[in-house]
Amino acid sequence: MSSESPPAGEAFLEPVRGPQPRYRTWIRSSRLIVFAALSGLCLVATALAVVSPWFALFLVPFALFGYIALILALTVYRFSPRGGDFQRRIHELIVAKAGLPAASQALDVGCGSGSLVVKLAKASPGSTVTGVDSWGQDWEYSKDLCEDNARIEGVAERTAFFKQSGAALEFPDGGFDAVVSCLTFHEIGDVARKSDGVVEALRVLRPGGRYVFLDLFGDPAFYPSLDGVREAVGRADASIVEFGALADALPLPFPLRHPKVLGHAMVIVGVKSAG
Ligand SMILES: C[S@@+](CC[C@H](N)C(=O)[O-])C[C@H]1O[C@@H](n2cnc3c(N)ncnc32)[C@H](O)[C@@H]1O
Repeated sequence: MSSESPPAGEAFLEPVRGPQPRYRTWIRSSRLIVFAALSGLCLVATALAVVSPWFALFLVPFALFGYIALILALTVYRFSPRGGDFQRRIHELIVAKAGLPAASQALDVGCGSGSLVVKLAKASPGSTVTGVDSWGQDWEYSKDLCEDNARIEGVAERTAFFKQSGAALEFPDGGFDAVVSCLTFHEIGDVARKSDGVVEALRVLRPGGRYVFLDLFGDPAFYPSLDGVREAVGRADASIVEFGALADALPLPFPLRHPKVLGHAMVIVGVKSAG
């Protein structure tokens, strides 16, 4: 009998696992399902080439949709704990760069499932962290999900979640000691320029307060130039301490460094002018 065997008559007891938070990845499962289904349909159509050779043309969309589905599936894997936990590591990078002092008031614009809010609250004793999000149909996130996650993680009393648009936050100027945001500004639809979301987030930061924004700032489809982003930060009376590619701060494996995934992601860190 090995030294680790239980005494006769005693069974090993599995550790009791309480409810676990559900943060979900940034990839909508509906997107993955749609591309996998389209690729499968095209493959079936290709098999009809035995009837007419024209059906062989379906190989082209099969390859295209299959490639997209593969990239999406690998991305989900990389974001998950088994594939390196990159979604959690990106949030931890933001928390580290925010360096939130104890007993602060912080805001996360576009808080999704509450993951970053919870991590900030846990990293900074006595701090209160607020999360806002529009929680639209496109995402598998909700206010209830955020509140459940905060309760499970033991920070419900120090977190609050509100449905608001990042385009027009319902908070007075300068009310927060720190403002963070992760992959949200490019999603905000009701603004003339994506950088307007940056200006609005900085509006609610107090003079001397610190901000950390991660977004697709390097993607010209959303931000015509990096100078435009710098100009927006200046317009909001804030300075830039650091502005660089996410991949420089956290080496990204394939396919996360793909331009359609996080290849254009950049982190900007700075401080609101003291006035
Ligand atoms: C890629 S997800 C990122 C979620 C979260 N920041 C994270 O890191 O897990 C983009 C988020 O932007 C939110 N969003 C989209 N438009 C918004 C808006 N106008 N105002 C606030 N949030 C918005 C979505 O609901 C979604 O939660």
